[in-house]
Amino acid sequence: MCGIVGYVGPKPALEVVVEGLARLEYRGYDSAGVAILSDGKLQTEKRAGKLANLRAALEQNPRSADGIGIGHTRWATHGAPTDHNAHPHVDNTNRVAVIHNGIIENFAQLRVELEERGCKFRSETDTEVVAHLLSEELKERGDKDLGAAMRSVCRRLEGAFTLVAICEDIPDLVVAARRNSPLVVGRGKGENFLASDVAAFIAHTRDAVELGQDQVVELRPDSVTITDYDGAPAPVREYYVDWDASAAEKGGYEYFMLKEIVEQPRAVADTLLGRVAVDGTLTLDEMRLAPQELRQISKIVIIACGTSYHAGLIAKYAIEHWCRIPCEVEVASEFRYRDPILDRQTLVIAISQSGESMDTLMATRYAREQQSRVLAICNVNGSTIPRESDGVLYTHAGPEVGVAATKTFLTQLVACYLVGLYLAQVRGLKFGDEINTIIGQLARMPEQVEKVLSTVEPVRELARSLADAKTVLFLGRHVGYPVAMEGALKLKELAYMHAEAFAAGELKHGPIALIEDGLPVVVVVPSREGRSVLHDKIVSNIQEIRARGARTIVIAEEGDESVRPYSDTLIEIPAVPTLLQPIVATVPLQVFACELALAKGNDVDQPRNLAKSVTVE
Ligand code: M6R
Repeated sequence: MCGIVGYVGPKPALEVVVEGLARLEYRGYDSAGVAILSDGKLQTEKRAGKLANLRAALEQNPRSADGIGIGHTRWATHGAPTDHNAHPHVDNTNRVAVIHNGIIENFAQLRVELEERGCKFRSETDTEVVAHLLSEELKERGDKDLGAAMRSVCRRLEGAFTLVAICEDIPDLVVAARRNSPLVVGRGKGENFLASDVAAFIAHTRDAVELGQDQVVELRPDSVTITDYDGAPAPVREYYVDWDASAAEKGGYEYFMLKEIVEQPRAVADTLLGRVAVDGTLTLDEMRLAPQELRQISKIVIIACGTSYHAGLIAKYAIEHWCRIPCEVEVASEFRYRDPILDRQTLVIAISQSGESMDTLMATRYAREQQSRVLAICNVNGSTIPRESDGVLYTHAGPEVGVAATKTFLTQLVACYLVGLYLAQVRGLKFGDEINTIIGQLARMPEQVEKVLSTVEPVRELARSLADAKTVLFLGRHVGYPVAMEGALKLKELAYMHAEAFAAGELKHGPIALIEDGLPVVVVVPSREGRSVLHDKIVSNIQEIRARGARTIVIAEEGDESVRPYSDTLIEIPAVPTLLQPIVATVPLQVFACELALAKGNDVDQPRNLAKSVTVE
């Protein structure tokens, strides 16, 4: 949840670290801090609030910029977001500084032990125990082996953590450790970096090393040494980051979210790239699950959270329709607590943009323990969920910095369609030309999304006109229902207003009582082709709510004149096949939520109380 940066090398460490933190602020932004070790002196600065507060403090109280440095943006778990709970935390001798992402579950017991030995705690965080433990360990060892001290301390910790430490007595060394929490190293020439996410250092290097579970890295300007917690050399994966630095920046937009919405045609196209072999068959190279295994699957269970869950709900319609395999979709945080029925013939699909959502990770582990095969759909290369899964299909949306998922949602949909088609192919349920027809329809989606984007100005105006609304309801049927859910989630998280989605057919079973004069209701109308019954039913639903005073905002395919008489606002989207409609229907809802939130003066990149990747349960 928090963002972590470390640097060793000749550049001004303070600058490199603060610049890295700016790129990671999306991971947590309730406080920020740095520790710099320069000329044998350890200095720290930390502030509650956004990074701007830390920058202001550093300007007022200039620190040496050289040496080595570590930095942190926080999303509070233990202890309120205050100056003294902000990271780094130091030991009682002020010689060891530590930053941390995750939760140390046995911290309370460790704290009692440390206090009994005379340690004075200055924060309410779980992190501070590590600073004291490292300090004690170094003292006991009587040497300057911070790596060995870290390994020893990590063996005593329970929970999920990325820890980074520096020590005043040891210049040129940053030590870090990870368990169930992300950590990646960037290799430079005569300098090295570490961070929770490559975005922090891609301006300097694109050569990355991914740390595995329970590993410790010792970073010096000319070396990167990685071991397991016992000190044995550990296997690592080196890779080249194919995002450039500009992709992680705002590209002229005021907010990342605005840029990311506009990037959707490209993201969809990139996710489709290279999926069809020369012989015309669909190939999913990274999938790693053999066709034979996929033929034996008798059930699919999709696990995910938030927006990724909505992608899963849509996937169900496509997979069941194309493959005739029963498909359940479950919120990952509930999954393992209900004793789900899983076996070797169950394929679990874990959808996660970040690949780090703890709920989805835990559900993934549970599924694998039950002998099910797990396929991850993920946007972040090398993140934990795909690493722990049997196979992976990466979406190629590029970095998504805005907390609200936009381009990654559309690419998750594409990935889900690809999985559905691939299953249909390997199980012999569709002819090659049928699959190619759908691939061809998907290939036209970037153009269709572009078209939607070029016509959304009226949606912006509408959103601004509704800035004072108290509630917005969303209705949909079939794949339009999860689209409505996604529209409501976007509005809640960005505009901080009550928004709720209903299956339009459920309206008459209760929610219709909510309709009152002027209440805005957004209705996602299914395509007329293929599912004409649904289309006609939803037209009746629109009439029902309008008769009771609702202000109807109707999203329907262009040329659908049947809805016009009942629409206070009609938002037209291109006519596309029924199952693919979510790709185009979601876009106006993203724009609507974003613009309404901006009209209310909200920060759409960093909405309150939220973080981009939720690495706690
Ligand atoms: O990284 P993940 O896809 O696992 O994240 C899941 C949710 O936390 C995420 O989709 C969240 O709901 C978004 N902020 C919604 O815009």
